[in-house]
Amino acid sequence: MAEALSAETKTPGSIPPHGGALVNREADPEGREELLEKLPRLAKIALGPWELSDVEMIATGAFSPLTGFFTRSDYESVVSRMRLSSGLPWSVPIALSVSPGEAESVKEGDEVALTGRGDRAVAVIKVKEIFYRDREREARLVYRTEEPAHPGVAYLFQTGPIAIGGEITLLERPYHASFGKYRFYPVETRCAFDERGWKRVVGFQTRNPIHRAHEYIQKVALEVVDGLFLHPLVGETKEDDIPADVRMRCYEALLKNYYPADRVFLGVLPAAMRYAGPREAIFHAIVRKNYGCTHFIVGRDHAGVGNYYGSFDAHRIFEDFEPDELGITPLFFDYTFYCRRCGGMASHKTCPHDKREHVSLSGTKVRQMLKEGVAPPTEFTRPEVAKVLMDWARESNGHDR
Ligand code: ADX
Repeated sequence: MAEALSAETKTPGSIPPHGGALVNREADPEGREELLEKLPRLAKIALGPWELSDVEMIATGAFSPLTGFFTRSDYESVVSRMRLSSGLPWSVPIALSVSPGEAESVKEGDEVALTGRGDRAVAVIKVKEIFYRDREREARLVYRTEEPAHPGVAYLFQTGPIAIGGEITLLERPYHASFGKYRFYPVETRCAFDERGWKRVVGFQTRNPIHRAHEYIQKVALEVVDGLFLHPLVGETKEDDIPADVRMRCYEALLKNYYPADRVFLGVLPAAMRYAGPREAIFHAIVRKNYGCTHFIVGRDHAGVGNYYGSFDAHRIFEDFEPDELGITPLFFDYTFYCRRCGGMASHKTCPHDKREHVSLSGTKVRQMLKEGVAPPTEFTRPEVAKVLMDWARESNGHDR
């Protein structure tokens, strides 16, 4: 307890991390040497990109207070009541499924190497528990559907039902070929916000190319806080989402032309996208709190996919928590669009006009327009962003031929 408290007082930023202390599971030089020496004798578990990003998020404190992959009690508790066994809110399982062969090669109490690309050990897990993961129940409660057409559910069913839980220790910081200048650990974003004198920081999650509805809600939010943390997710996304490098070019184009540099901080979130809608909104908010945000934007169908969630289910789920349980303040936004009669951006809350006056496009429609070589209108996307998207579409259509 004393340790947690002293860590809390030392943590930069104006909001305590979830659970009070920023977790750091990076091996110190001595511990690392010890683990490296043992490594050749340890069993191995090969991680895919999703779990590798979980390891990175745990080790760097983005998933504070988690220090490893879930054991059974946290798993059961999170799936059924959105809280860790300690009672602290947490909405999606961070579980490590293993193949039957891998499960046979480890037992509780073992240290096991977690390997990434090229069979390289990135971390070591101290196996506390091997347990059964009821994936159907998890799908129903976390994703609100068991349909394999849901990308999060599809991934869940693709992973095995046996999971191992326990603390991890990171051996080396994961190498990333992209977005180097936008990669920050939570302690670094917290310091950056402090340096700028920002006490109130609003976080923005996104996995789509930025459009004017995004820009509008970001700027409305920025009106009432000190700084905006644009935090696009660049981990695993579903096949037909627009690639992260294209989305980042859209952000750069937009920031250069339409945002005040001293009020915005752009960084990437290496996490995998779960598409868990409401549950993921809670998760996204907690993670952004760990990065130092005091506020978090939740708009229409946050982290949703297809028609699995109601447009504002991700708002309502916050009612399941007392405000001081989450710590971070959600800023809810209604459906926003460009209104020709208003002559600007508006929402269902602020615009009285008929929906025929509204310009808004679905992601599917935008992708179709790009495929046909048609630029999205300026009411929907800034021309600088449309250009990035059109260039990319032209290039990828060229490659398809
Ligand atoms: S998400 O899967 O990351 O939520 P997206 O990048 O499209 O997808 O959305 C980022 C954020 O903007 C989410 O909070 C979402 O609810 C919000 N949002 C997107 N489009 C709109 C819109 N037209 N009106 C209101 N909020 C929106």
